[in-house]
Amino acid sequence: MDREEISRRAHADHPIAAPLDDDAVRGLLERALPHGGGRVLDLGCGGGEWLLRALTARPGLRAEGVDLSERALADARRAARRLGVEDRLVLHRQDAARFTAPHSFDLVLCVGATHAFGGLLPALAAARGHLAPGGRVLAGEGYWDREPSAEAVALLGDLDDLPTTLDRVAADGWTPVHGHISTRRELDDYEWAWTGTLASWALDHPGHPDSAQALAAATAHRDEWLRVYRDVFGFLCLVLRPTAD
Ligand SMILES: C[S@@+](CC[C@H](N)C(=O)[O-])C[C@H]1O[C@@H](n2cnc3c(N)ncnc32)[C@H](O)[C@@H]1O
Repeated sequence: MDREEISRRAHADHPIAAPLDDDAVRGLLERALPHGGGRVLDLGCGGGEWLLRALTARPGLRAEGVDLSERALADARRAARRLGVEDRLVLHRQDAARFTAPHSFDLVLCVGATHAFGGLLPALAAARGHLAPGGRVLAGEGYWDREPSAEAVALLGDLDDLPTTLDRVAADGWTPVHGHISTRRELDDYEWAWTGTLASWALDHPGHPDSAQALAAATAHRDEWLRVYRDVFGFLCLVLRPTAD
């Protein structure tokens, strides 16, 4: 089982691949989505959960998702058919950093996928290039809640603290008009869902050739979470407007 498949199985019970509960996702979409119709783009959409929720909530909306993972996009396609929104969803299998479109978008999402661009600010620069006048960006990024260990930085990357993250975003020409800071409960729920779902799958399939590897991956992930980053990692979502269009 490769990392992509491990992650896919681990997210079965938490289809948003980020530490946010359903109310937080709903609240962010309400503040970020255009009123009426419009176009939404998700860079690093994974299984398309943000787009599926947006399309279900807004019948006039059209959406496009970009991701490298064919398996995640296939999941998104299946879910879109199940929800009856497939005619309003276009999925692109490609590097989000190279994605181009003949039209602009009223909302550009990039949640938990800024690494595809080399970090938050390059991701925002890419989003700006796709944005229609008056449009918004919904970006989700980690931050350090406390001084991280070298091990935590090696694992999760070179993040800023929360006020520094906001300072840098503002200095880059963005104004936050809404936001959500994941609670300890959301962060913990996400990690329990990730590790617990994967471990349960392994226990439910004892004869499967991937079972032992899945259980080991769940254990290793839980260990890293508890030992390395639980006390220092935070997650932030921002709804941003360009300070000057
Ligand atoms: C943590 S998941 C987040 C998925 C989704 N945004 C969400 O919040 O549920 C990160 C996603 O980014 C995708 N990804 C990573 N690098 C990428 C790239 N260069 N281009 C497109 N997608 C990429 C991965 O395949 C994965 O689906």
